[in-house]
Amino acid sequence: MLLRYPFDNQRKSSELCITMFTPAQAERFAAMETPFFYYDLSLLKKTIDVAALHARKHQFHIHYALKANVNREILQPIAAAGFGADCVSGNEVLRALEAGFSPDKVVFAGVGKSDKEIRTALAHDIFCFNVESVEELQVINELAAQAGKTATVALRVNPLVEVNTHHYITTGTAENKFGIPPRDFDALLQLLPQLSYVKVIGLHTHIGSQICDMDNFKNTCLKFNEIRRWFEEHGLQFTDLNVGGGLGVDYKQPDEHPIPDFESYFDTVSRYLERTPQQQVHFELGRSIVAQCGSLITRVLYTKQGETKRFAIVDAGMTELIRPALYQAYHKIEAVGVAADESYAYDVVGPICESSDFFGKEVVLPALKRGDLLAIRTAGAYGEVMTSFYNLREKAPAVYED
Ligand code: LLP
Repeated sequence: MLLRYPFDNQRKSSELCITMFTPAQAERFAAMETPFFYYDLSLLKKTIDVAALHARKHQFHIHYALKANVNREILQPIAAAGFGADCVSGNEVLRALEAGFSPDKVVFAGVGKSDKEIRTALAHDIFCFNVESVEELQVINELAAQAGKTATVALRVNPLVEVNTHHYITTGTAENKFGIPPRDFDALLQLLPQLSYVKVIGLHTHIGSQICDMDNFKNTCLKFNEIRRWFEEHGLQFTDLNVGGGLGVDYKQPDEHPIPDFESYFDTVSRYLERTPQQQVHFELGRSIVAQCGSLITRVLYTKQGETKRFAIVDAGMTELIRPALYQAYHKIEAVGVAADESYAYDVVGPICESSDFFGKEVVLPALKRGDLLAIRTAGAYGEVMTSFYNLREKAPAVYED
């Protein structure tokens, strides 16, 4: 059953604010300390199943990008579904292994891998390092030699494509620090024969995050095909092609689209990525797997009528969910278990001493009072993992429901 809140003066009466939380959940939340992250594990499992189903159709391999959420309760069902892991630190590699991901499905990316992290990954015989510069390749070669191992690597290339997303989360344009720039390809090829402890098996790219325009993925594939052909013409063959992650989710309508359109996404890549039957195709999906299963539950501490604005001051802040402050990101905000006839437009703000500490501006909500609960939706990805301790904040706990 859904709780429905009629709006009066602010919006047409046909527009309703609906929360997916049931009255029983609202009652349970009301007795809990806030803020906390709420995770719907049954939605997570459905999402995993749908992603796996559509990937299987094309024999694609998904590596879950741990950077989106590293909670063990989230990782375990993903590992159990047979997904691989995409890690960007030594600690993420260790967390993935501990959660049950098989080392031979772990890829390790990142523009600044430390020697310690490279040694950790070598010690656990991970599947592949996604290498981001010529110098990094030399260092991995050296450390692999010391460890008496051969490191398998994929070359991360920068396809120089434009994508429709926030400019802080593009990674494949000329101004981004990621990937080996085309100007270094010749030098890399000359160097490779001298590197006896690395084996290049793959080509990798990743263009950014929260991308919903399938044309962006199409253009990436076309550019990737060109780069792959260039390397092949110069004598380098790849058994593995990795096109990264980036599939976006619907922040505006989380209940209408709780599961992203994996079908169109994989179909697009399948259609435009050239490959031989022997070449394995890999993806690194983070947000699309975990974003919609998480909400940040917070309580109204105070309401305040300012000179021009009405504020709802809540007990969660940018320390729990930094996306609005950092990327001006929209998250749907809903009142949970609040029944009021009147509604107002609130700026929903946190307690942190920064003006960027807000979750939403002019959000139409039922008249709020101290103690009311709000759910900030689509917070399962890049929410809890980006927690900070600024203002000596305590870590908000996680609550799971299956
Ligand atoms: N692979 C690589 C190499 C990446 O850099 C990323 C994300 C992914 C895969 C996973 O992308 P996804 O499928 O989750 O879009 N904190 C930002 C997002 C940063 C993404 C960083 N890289 C946000 O909250 O929007």
